[in-house]
Amino acid sequence: MPAPLRVAVTGAAGNIGYALLWRLASGDCFGPDQPIELQLLEIPPGMERLLGVVMELQDSAFPLVHRITATSDPAEAFQDADAVFLVGSRPRSKDMDRADLVAANGPIFTGQGRAINDHAKRTVKVITVGNPCNTNCLIANANSPDLGDECFSAMTRLDENRAVGQLAVKAGVPPAQIADVFIWGNHADTMYPDLQRATVNHKPAAEIFDSDWLRGEFHKTVATRGKAIIVARGASSAASAASAAVDHMRDWWHGTQGRIVSMAIPSKGWYGVPEGLIFSFPVRVSAQGQIEVVEDLVLDDYARTQIQKNVDALLEERAAVADLL
Ligand code: NAD
Ligand code: LMR
Repeated sequence: MPAPLRVAVTGAAGNIGYALLWRLASGDCFGPDQPIELQLLEIPPGMERLLGVVMELQDSAFPLVHRITATSDPAEAFQDADAVFLVGSRPRSKDMDRADLVAANGPIFTGQGRAINDHAKRTVKVITVGNPCNTNCLIANANSPDLGDECFSAMTRLDENRAVGQLAVKAGVPPAQIADVFIWGNHADTMYPDLQRATVNHKPAAEIFDSDWLRGEFHKTVATRGKAIIVARGASSAASAASAAVDHMRDWWHGTQGRIVSMAIPSKGWYGVPEGLIFSFPVRVSAQGQIEVVEDLVLDDYARTQIQKNVDALLEERAAVADLL
C-alpha cells in the first residue's frame, strides 16, 4: 500500500464537510488503495461539532483512514498537506448574491493562504469551495507567494454537473452518455455553460438540443440553480457540492484521460482573460496531474460576450478585495 496522503478540509463540521468527509474516507477521490490522513480545521466555536464528526468517522471504521486530526490551528491542519479542500466560510442566505460574501469570507483566505504557503507540501493541490470561490481562491493564491499558481483552483464542477444533469433529463439519457460540457468564468449567475464540444452518446449536442432552449431556459436553470436550492431546501447545496469537489480533485489527481472538464484556475491570459484572475476554463488533466487549458476553441460573438461578462464581474470582485491581495 502507498504511504498515506495528507488531506486537509476546512469547515469540516459544516454541511458540505459532513458529506465530503465520507466520500474522501471511502476512497472515492484518491482511489480504493490509497490511505489518507484527514487534517480537519474548524474555528473554535465549531470544535465541539467537529469532535462529534470525528467520533462518527471513527465509528465508520474506514480501512483507508489512517489518522484524523481535528484542530482550530491552520498551521496544524495544513502541515505537509498533499491536498486541501477550502470549504470553511459562510454560505449565503436567499436574499444574497455570492459576491455579497466577499466582505464576510474574503479575510478567511488571507490567513489560510499564508498557512498553506508556510506548511503544505510544495506540490499541494488546493480546491476552493467556500464562496465567492473564485475570488477566495485569488486571495489564497496571492497570500501564498512561495507556491506556484498550479497549486490553486476553485470549483465550477458543480455548475458543470448541473448542466450535465439538465441535459440528461432533457435528452432522456443517463448522465454518463453526456461528455465534454464545460463552464466559463465565475461560479456566479454570470457563468457560461458551453456545449460546442459536447456530445450525447457520441453525437454533437448541437444536433440534439434546440439552440433557443440552450441559450434560454437551460442556461438560466444552471446559472441560478444555487439560489433555487437555497429557496427550496432552506440551506445551500451540500451533498452535490461535496460530490463535485470529489469529482474535481479526483480528476486533478488521476487525470481526465482526454475528457474536457471545468476548473477555475489562475489565468495566463487564455482567451483574453486577464492574467491572474481565477477563471473557469475547459481543461484536460494529464495522468501526472498537469492541468492543460483547451486552447483551440472557436468563440462566436455570443460566447465572447458571455466570457466578457464574467471577466467584468471578477475584476469587480478583485477590486473589492484589493487590500487582501
Ligand atoms: P456551513 O455553514 O454548513 O459550514 C461552514 C463551516 O465552516 C462551519 O462549520 C463554520 O464553523 C466553518 N468555518 C467558518 N469560518 C471558518 C474558518 N475561518 N476556518 C475554518 N472553518 C471555518 O456551510 P456549507 O454549507 O458547508 O458551505 C460552505 C461554503 O461553501 C459556503 O461559502 C457556501 O456558499 C460554499 N459553497 C460553494 C459551492 C461551490 O460550488 N463552489 C457550492 C455550495 C456551497
Ligand atoms: C451553489 O451553487 O449551490 C453554492 O454556490 C451555494 C450558493 O450560494 O449558490
